[in-house]
Amino acid sequence: MSGAASGLFITLEGGDGSGKSTQAALLSEWLTGQGRTTVRTREPGGTEVGLEVRELVLHHRGDIAPRAEALLYAADRAHHVATLVRPALERGEIVIQDRYIDSSVAYQGVGRVLDAQEIRSLSLWATEGLLPQLTILLDLDESVARARLDSARTRYDRLEAEAAEFHARVRAAYLDLAAAEPDRFLVLDAAQPVDVLASAVRARVAALLA
Ligand code: TYD
Repeated sequence: MSGAASGLFITLEGGDGSGKSTQAALLSEWLTGQGRTTVRTREPGGTEVGLEVRELVLHHRGDIAPRAEALLYAADRAHHVATLVRPALERGEIVIQDRYIDSSVAYQGVGRVLDAQEIRSLSLWATEGLLPQLTILLDLDESVARARLDSARTRYDRLEAEAAEFHARVRAAYLDLAAAEPDRFLVLDAAQPVDVLASAVRARVAALLA
């Protein structure tokens, strides 16, 4: 089904505090400067429905059962892809998105110890099989990411508040996903300076557009 799209779908993945939105903004700016039309979006919360799901899944006081959490992210994704991402790709635009299927596999599949393959299948069902052409993984040591978050804010959302052990499993899951699909992933050491990362991203995207 992903063949229906003629644009370019790029996702950014990595732990909380790994710098995804900074790199997404720089990439979008660069592509716009090249005369390309880009759409910057994110999950959860890329649509109006998604904002309500985001509020629930990130800020609900009290527990959410792991399978319910997985379904909420999948519901957000289904609506986002159907109403925003796929239409933009069909118009030939470049979609630059913070987080997608790999977040669910890493956080719900491995972090919450649901079955990674089942979570992937759920997301693929939700999106009618849409996968990105490029996924940039900003890999960062858990303790460095935590220090960045600590200096930036005082309140954590439900996922950020998880223990270091949870985030270490999420990081390992991302690296396994990247190793399994080396053609789709670009893995970068997110401890590098912002401009070094940005030029590595640009080089890879330029190659895809050539
Ligand atoms: P967000 O506030 O968007 O920030 P950041 O991406 O900078 O961390 O956080 C979204 C949170 O939701 C994040 O902790 C990861 C989590 N998440 C999942 O657990 N599963 C998913 O499928 C997605 C998209 C996000």
